[in-house]
Amino acid sequence: MQDTLPPGALTEASPVSERYRHVRATSRALGAPLSDADATVQSMPDASPAKWHLAHTTWFFETMVLKPNFAGYEIFDDSFNFLFNSYYETIGERQPRPRRGMVTRPHLDTVYAYRDHVDGAIERLLEAGASPEVEELVELGCHHEQQHQELLLTDILHLFAQSPLKPAYRDPQPLGVGAEPGEAHFVSFDGGIVEIGHGGRGFAFDSEGPRHKALIEPYRLADRPVTNGEFIAFIEDGGYRDPLLWLSAGWADILANKWDKPFYWQEKDGEYWTMTLRGAQPVDRNAPATHLSYFEADAFATWAGKRLPSEFEWENAAAGLPLDGNFAGSGRLRPKPAEPGAGELRQMFGDVWEWTRSPFSPYPRFKPVEGAVGEYNGKFMCGQFVLRGGSCVTPEGHIRATYRNFFPPDARWQFSGLRLAEDA
Ligand SMILES: [Fe+2]
Repeated sequence: MQDTLPPGALTEASPVSERYRHVRATSRALGAPLSDADATVQSMPDASPAKWHLAHTTWFFETMVLKPNFAGYEIFDDSFNFLFNSYYETIGERQPRPRRGMVTRPHLDTVYAYRDHVDGAIERLLEAGASPEVEELVELGCHHEQQHQELLLTDILHLFAQSPLKPAYRDPQPLGVGAEPGEAHFVSFDGGIVEIGHGGRGFAFDSEGPRHKALIEPYRLADRPVTNGEFIAFIEDGGYRDPLLWLSAGWADILANKWDKPFYWQEKDGEYWTMTLRGAQPVDRNAPATHLSYFEADAFATWAGKRLPSEFEWENAAAGLPLDGNFAGSGRLRPKPAEPGAGELRQMFGDVWEWTRSPFSPYPRFKPVEGAVGEYNGKFMCGQFVLRGGSCVTPEGHIRATYRNFFPPDARWQFSGLRLAEDA
């Protein structure tokens, strides 16, 4: 896969046509190792088939950009609006999400032909000189597709984990085990009234704004995420058996689902193994713990005598840090142990999304935009928690300090981990 990723990195200054080509070529490269069968099966209601991701992102450009803005555009296939609409009520009826895997036709090759058809039309539209509004929609479509690139990988991981063969999405050779990152240290922050949210130039999703003031108390934040080794200590101390460590809803999940270790983990000959995009691999004790629900992250923090940070604390600490990290383009596709540190924050970006204790809610004065794209984020602001920082399968150039990802508290199939915080 890595060999076929398009070269170069996008920057904020990249023209939208260049961004479009880069993003679309990246999706194609991500799909390349998959057969039609791999790309068709849906392993659970929350995960979508790879074919659906490749087609839905294309449908987004066709529906949001081409249909309303490109006179004479020829729709590729009328039935695709039903098949590949995700959740846009304003656009109409759709295939129910848990039954996306029933769509065995079109074949994957037809989905690629659909992509080529839409790419040609978008290129012509941009070459002809699109309005700033249309360019903004193309830009939104690119960032939307990058979100689905990450989901394509996490959903393939979930699918391949169901197979007794535990196939590798890419190279199954074991990765070298990283060095012990040493004990976590806590970095102090003053708190006070701080500015939160996206307010500057460049792209951001609507939920990242408006920029506004927030009051935070003095706090400390760990200089790296919690590692697998630290999480094993929690398991061995009976963490999954002590109801006093758990939120009530999380304890109910433990009883109902018999959770006793992170998602994808298995015990083999006294050692922990985990499913990865490189097939089954031994758990690396020095790498950040991942595939944790909010409930597990919260219980670990309680066990450790700490807590999860709020999203404002996280953003205040991350503001101004370089957006470097272990992202999808590194080709590693697994979290990496922290490099030795000297007390500075490490791995704020990449490796694992970090659960915060903040519900995904609208910022003050938030208003969804008008029209169908107004359904993008706003209607999901209930019952989910914010995660920050991106992961080892987040595309390069997709993350920001203000970026708010969100999942329900029992979600475990994303690359989700945690960083501890405490009051100062
Ligand atoms: Fe989508």
